[in-house]
Formats: sequence, structure tokens, C-alpha cells
Amino acid sequence: MRTHYCGELNQQHIDEVVSVCGWVNRRRDHGGVIFVDLRDKKGILQVVFDPDDADMFAQAETQRNEFVLRVEGKFRVRPEGTNNPEMATGEVELLAHKLEILNASETPPFQLDEEEVHDDNRLKYRYIDLRKPEMQYRMQLRAKVTHFLRSWLEGNEFLDIETPMLTRATPEGARDYLVPSRTHPGAFFALPQSPQLFKQLLMMSGMDRYYQIVRCFRDEDLRADRQPEFTQLDIETSFMDEEKIMAMMESMMRGLFTEVLSAEVDSVFPRMSWAEAMERFGSDKPDLRIKLELQTISDVLKDVEFKVFSGPASDPEGRVAALRVPGGNELTRKEIDDYTDFVGRYGARGLAYIKCNDVSAGREGLQSPILKFLPDEAIQTILERTGAESGDLIFFGADKASVVNESLGALRLKVGQDRGLVEAGWRFLWVVDFPMFEYDEGEKRWNALHHPFTAPATDSPDQLEGDPGGTLSRAYDMVLNGTELGGGSVRIHNLEMQHRVFSLLGIEEQEAEEKFGFLLTALKYGCPPHGGIAFGLDRLVMLMAGASSIRDVMAFPKTQTASCLLTQAPAEVSERQLRELSIRLRKPQGDN
Ligand code: AMO
Ligand code: AMP
Repeated sequence: MRTHYCGELNQQHIDEVVSVCGWVNRRRDHGGVIFVDLRDKKGILQVVFDPDDADMFAQAETQRNEFVLRVEGKFRVRPEGTNNPEMATGEVELLAHKLEILNASETPPFQLDEEEVHDDNRLKYRYIDLRKPEMQYRMQLRAKVTHFLRSWLEGNEFLDIETPMLTRATPEGARDYLVPSRTHPGAFFALPQSPQLFKQLLMMSGMDRYYQIVRCFRDEDLRADRQPEFTQLDIETSFMDEEKIMAMMESMMRGLFTEVLSAEVDSVFPRMSWAEAMERFGSDKPDLRIKLELQTISDVLKDVEFKVFSGPASDPEGRVAALRVPGGNELTRKEIDDYTDFVGRYGARGLAYIKCNDVSAGREGLQSPILKFLPDEAIQTILERTGAESGDLIFFGADKASVVNESLGALRLKVGQDRGLVEAGWRFLWVVDFPMFEYDEGEKRWNALHHPFTAPATDSPDQLEGDPGGTLSRAYDMVLNGTELGGGSVRIHNLEMQHRVFSLLGIEEQEAEEKFGFLLTALKYGCPPHGGIAFGLDRLVMLMAGASSIRDVMAFPKTQTASCLLTQAPAEVSERQLRELSIRLRKPQGDN
């Protein structure tokens, strides 16, 4: 069929007779000559049809976009002055001798170089969308990434082991996808949210180092970096502590970025405690490319007249924080209102601000509706702590700490992006020292910050029970440029500790036995100390590809409402199938 790919032909092939296959990217008729840009997975090549061969020329005239062709011809340098510097093959072309139209195409629903194609159309006609050079690159990059990871892990004695897809509910905190069992009427499998329990069992099985590139299923609200089915690089090791695990994972990531992107990456990834990350960035996955930080100012606002500030400042669960925006003095009323609406989406009830015209002039040099409520001393401290300079603006958040962190944390990113303050580069970070539990005020109970198999930083179950809120866990998250790439922990390998953690989480003995009995039993038969991590492979490739959604690095992703526009899944099934599965759908009322 072909001797070369379109995109790999270059000056070395001049004067050779070659044949290429591909899709018509574009056809142009120019004064009796027809130019066709032919596309394949390696690039685009200009093919010229000369009117000398009348038959072939007539055939060439019938071609439309996305026709599939085979062309044989002589490879040559383009004539003087017709080079196209925009194209990788812009100095060369193929003079066609022979044309075979292998298949025709209807007019495609969108042109491949069209800028604003509706996402629904891209997903419905995904096979056309994937022909785009950009999408080809992303799929190739993804394959390179998995190839590197597999070979690195195998080189380090990790064993690739598959775990079941039809299983029991796994405890990652999302809703399950369920699969009805035909042979056990009324019973359901759950698709795994992660292989967490199986990988722990594999450590108890003496496998020592496990990995798997594995599909996980979570029925949760979708966002740009969440899909109902996604892929983890899942890892577990025995007889290693967090230091050793983190060091290995860093070295794997450094290898990956050097090999696949020729990128420079920190030789040691910085570490930050969860508490520090929340304090300075309002986020457990701070984007270190943006230098802006939050400053707590609760201490100077406890007694001010302004209740909006003094309330949260005096509340132990509250926080008042400031965010300096360099050069922000120029923000218009409208822009400030837009930012106020923006933080409102995160639950903030307002967004107070001070414009700094001249910081050396004290109160006189500032401009703000709240200035009159603040004593000189507080103003001075705010200016000092934020490091505000003339021309800056300071935003304020005052509320429950969680609301302030979430809203100002998001505002920090938004302002950073809007004002071009995102530095280039790969900023990796380990977030460590997570609290073991967080208290759910609504439900009046403790929740695990990671999953319930994460080891606490103490070996004493009594100590843990004495201070559940103050105990840290042995969990770690790897963050890259503000995205949580992966998370893991050292696990509980002591039966007593596992029981106590379940009980703190309000999982009664019977429930624990029912759901995780197999794990609890296994803990009795010689469980090694173990720990691991799972990376979101889609997120990793998304960042490496410079894409803005994990959809763009998945061949066949789902929509925001978890459906597949290409295959129209999920779909209704026949009555017969339902009967076989002993499922009766509730009939409309009155039809009983
Ligand atoms: P966790 O739930 O943090 O940990 O998941 C690990 C990583 O998987 C990615 N991820 C997702 N990616 C796309 N769409 C989703 N819906 C989605 N949910 C999670 C993230 C995340 O960091 N078993 C534990 C790991 C362990 O303890 O070893 C687990 O699954 O990048
Ligand atoms: P008000 O007195 O409600 O008009 O608010 C005065 C200023 O404080 C306005 O700029 C509000 O946006 C701001 N504000 C109100 N509530 C909060 C809050 N919880 N955190 C930060 N700023 C607030």
C-alpha cells in the first residue's frame, strides 16, 4: 500500500518514487493544478495533480475532504517561492503519477481545522475528531507514558497483576456502579472504585511489589479532571515506609518527564504539610507556579466594629484572610463585582477589598468601603503582612475557615490566571501530614480524609481514640501544577488498629465484617507492613499534553452527564434481559 508515512518524508527522499496513504485534509484548485493536503498519523503532505494526465486529473477533481487515498508519485522540492513555512513538510511535495480513491466520505460534520467545534459533536463523531493531528499526538503521548511507566516499574521488580472488575463495593467514597447478577437474583456486583483492597491482599500474598494500569469506576459529579471511568497507575509495596515509597515515585516521575518531554524537574520534590498548604494557599493541592499567598489576619480583627470580620476572627473554626493582588488597584468596579460573584460560588458571602493608592500615606492613601470600620493598627498590620505596595489591591475573606480557604484558594488561581501570573515549568509537590479524620458537623461523625485503611501516625490505638481530630495520618499526595496527580499512604497492617479505625468512623463491627470481613480475616494471617499510591493516569497525561480536560487524552470519554454520545450508552435493555436479571422496573402508577 505505502512506502512511507506522509509526515516522515523529507529532503532525503527527493527524487524517489514513493507511495503514501491517508485522508484528504484539504483540496485546492489553482489554475489547472489541484493540490491535496494528505494526512496520516505522522503529518500532512502536499500532493500535486498535474492536468497532463487527464484521467487522473478528472479523478482528482472528485475528491472531497476526508476521502481516503493512495497516491504514488515522485517526491520533489517545491518550486521557488511556493514554500509553506507553517508546514513541517512545507518545502517538499509529491507529484502524483497514480491515484487510487480507496474510499469516499460524506461531508464531515465538522472540518478538522475548525476552531470552535461543539464538544457534543466531537464526542458523537469521535473517530473524526481523533484524526486531528493534536489528538493523534495526545494518544501517542499517552502510549509513550504508559510504555515508560511499565518499563520503569518492571525494571524495579514491580509485578503487573490484574484484579477483578466484578467485585464488591470499594471504599473510595463515591457512588458505585452496580452490575446485577443473573445467577444470584437480587444481588449485585460493584465495579471497583479502585483496586485498594485487592492490592493490599496481594501484599499479604507475598507479591512484594505490585502495579497495574487499571480502570476505576466512580459515579460522582463530573468535572474537567473527573470521568466516571478513568485509569489509575496503581502501586503497592511491602516492607517500605513513606520515605522509601515517595523517593521511588519521585524518581519514576523524574525519569518520565526527562524521557518523554525532555523536561527539567526538581531533583527533590518539595514537601508541605496539609496545614501549611491550607494556610498559605487555601488548598490541599496548591499550584506553586502562582506566587500569590493568603495571609491570616484573624488576630488583629477580633475586636473591630465590623461584624463581618470580628465574628469569624473570634470563632475558633473561623478565619479572616487577605490576598494581595499585585497591581490590582487598576481593577474596575465591574471586575471586582465579577470576582465577588466568583467567590460566591464557593460559599463566600462577600469579598471585601482595599485599594492601595499610596501605602506610605497610611489611611489617606487607601480606598475601600470597609476602611472606616478598621482601626489604624489593624490597617498597618494588614499592609505589613500582605507586603502590599502602592498600586496593589487586597481582597478579604471572612467566614468558616473551610469557606475562606475554598473561596480565596480558588480566587488565588483565578486572579493568577487572569493577570498572567502563572510561571512556566513543572512544579511538583508532596502534601503530607494530613489529618487522619475530619469532623462532619451535619452528620455528627468523623470521616476519613483518605480511605479507612490509611495508617495513623501513631501505633497506639488508644492514643488515636484519645484525639481523633488531632492525629495525623501517614498519607501523602503528589501534586503537579495545582492538580492532585496521585495519593497514597502507609496502610494499617494491625488488626486491632483496623478495628478501632472502623469504630471511630462509625462502622459497626457487623457492618465491617459484612463489607470488609475478607480483609479483616486476612490481617490475621501474617500481613506485612505495606503501603502504596495510585496516580490518575489521565490527569498525568492531560498535564503533560497541555490539555485542559482529561477528556482530551481519552479516546472515548463520556459527557458531563456520564453518557457516551458515540454509542448512546447507557441505553434501555429488553424486558427479557431484565427478567433474566430478576429486575422489575417500577411501573407507572395505576399500572400495578
Ligand atoms: P484516590 O481516590 O485519591 O486514591 O485516587 C487516586 C488518583 O486517581 C485520580 N482520580 C481520578 N481521575 C479521573 N477521574 C476521577 N473520577 C478520579 N478520581 C480519582 C486522581 C487521584 O489522585 N486507592 C487509593 C490510592 C491508594 O491509597 O493507594 C485511591 O484510589 O489523580
Ligand atoms: P456589607 O457591609 O455587607 O455591605 O459589606 C461590606 C463589604 O464587605 C463588601 O465589600 C462585601 O463584599 C464584604 N463582605 C461581606 N461579607 C463578607 C465576608 N464574609 N468575607 C469577606 N468580605 C465580605
